[in-house]
Amino acid sequence: MAGKRSRWEDSDESDADARQSVGTPIARRARDVASNSNKQADGAARAPPEHAGALPAELGAHVRPPPPRKAHLAASFTGKPLPVLAGCRSVDCYERLRKIDEGTYGIVWKARERATGEVVALKQIKVLRGQEGFPITSLREINILLALDHENIINVREVVTGGGADQIFMVMDCMETDLKAFMAKLKDPPAPSEVKSLMQQLLSATAYMHDRWVVHRDLKTSNLLFSMSGALTVCDFGMARHYSDPIKKMSTQVVTLWYRAPEILLGSQLYTQAVDMWSVGCIFAEIISLKPLLPGQGDIDQIERTFKLLGTPNDTIWPGYSQLPNVQKGRWRTYPYNRLRDTFCKPSFAGGPAPLTDRGLELLNAMLTYDPERRISARDALAHAYFREEPPPKPMKLGPMLAAAAERGAGAHRAEPDSPPIARANGASPETRRS
Ligand SMILES: Nc1ncnc2c1ncn2[C@@H]1O[C@H](COP(=O)(O)OP(=O)(O)OP(=O)(O)O)[C@@H](O)[C@H]1O
Ligand SMILES: [Mg+2]
Repeated sequence: MAGKRSRWEDSDESDADARQSVGTPIARRARDVASNSNKQADGAARAPPEHAGALPAELGAHVRPPPPRKAHLAASFTGKPLPVLAGCRSVDCYERLRKIDEGTYGIVWKARERATGEVVALKQIKVLRGQEGFPITSLREINILLALDHENIINVREVVTGGGADQIFMVMDCMETDLKAFMAKLKDPPAPSEVKSLMQQLLSATAYMHDRWVVHRDLKTSNLLFSMSGALTVCDFGMARHYSDPIKKMSTQVVTLWYRAPEILLGSQLYTQAVDMWSVGCIFAEIISLKPLLPGQGDIDQIERTFKLLGTPNDTIWPGYSQLPNVQKGRWRTYPYNRLRDTFCKPSFAGGPAPLTDRGLELLNAMLTYDPERRISARDALAHAYFREEPPPKPMKLGPMLAAAAERGAGAHRAEPDSPPIARANGASPETRRS
């Protein structure tokens, strides 16, 4: 088995970088285990026919099917890597259909399981040029996702491998599109009942992960997947990590710029799950207006735009503000007013209703509160009066035509002006930007 490459590699036009990583320590360990088991006389009998080689313990590989859905894994949630339960199946159990998207940390493929005909999404872990060993971010993503079990968090079914070190894939449920691509196809913003449904699902996933001490650190519309029936699921846990109380220092090179909380922008390394709630606020505003709330062109412009929209903070509304590293370093213009009401609560020119009611504005302001200690939590946001006022939440269904158009557009957001993670902007390696 060692040396045999999977059919998944042969026509892959975009894995040149990934191939550079063959021979990294973890890859070698995986290959060694595989070749040792081949040497054993009874190896073939013990391994299922499609077995592609055992993975290192850190991967927390598991055998499918796991009925009921990941119950055994959820029970073993400790925040530490899951134990090896057995080897992984081969990626050749799946037929490749098309590439959905290529992100910083992985290539996402649409595929069909040969045995069942089920359509799934496979995220191939990218091992970057010059990288030593298996990427820690992918290890975290796999471990965290395998341990989370919530209807609004993408379901990882299994991990499969090919013959090469660059051939490790996360098998996920396949969704029609992501929210960013979907919104790009809409002419008008979603109805208030649909906005409520989207926000309720996003908050429900966020509350669930925060209850388990997981902070996502990259919530944005392209990391929210969307199905025909209106179901929203959070994906891309590449930046996620466990945090603890008392909090420890974490990297400030996280969260895509446009969705980045002010405490991170201003250089604080001691931040909490409240950074996700800031991103949720930005997403809320983006859904009701169909445009990003704070599309900064760099860190300084991002801070400037934030202050211009929400008013420049001070120690009264945000105790400790003046001590933040980038407040001490820079001199920021003073904007006295919060302009959210002007932006979202005015009736349209033609006299149509304002995008947000007073209750909606209250919730948006609570999410975009400067002081992270006073920023609303996901649980409290779910209980907010906004969700109880008329009209009640109603799933936003994709019609077949819109679904097809959105699917064609999925992943296309990379061609549009976007807010890339800072590492892509400043050339730092992805590994250095996450801790
Ligand atoms: N399960 C899925 N079903 C359908 N499409 C998916 C799925 N998972 C990911 N995608 C698509 O692939 C894109 C990239 O996936 P993902 O965000 O996980 O990769 P990444 O490399 O971590 O990306 P980034 O560039 O944001 O860091 C998503 O924005 C989405 O459009
Ligand atoms: Mg992503």
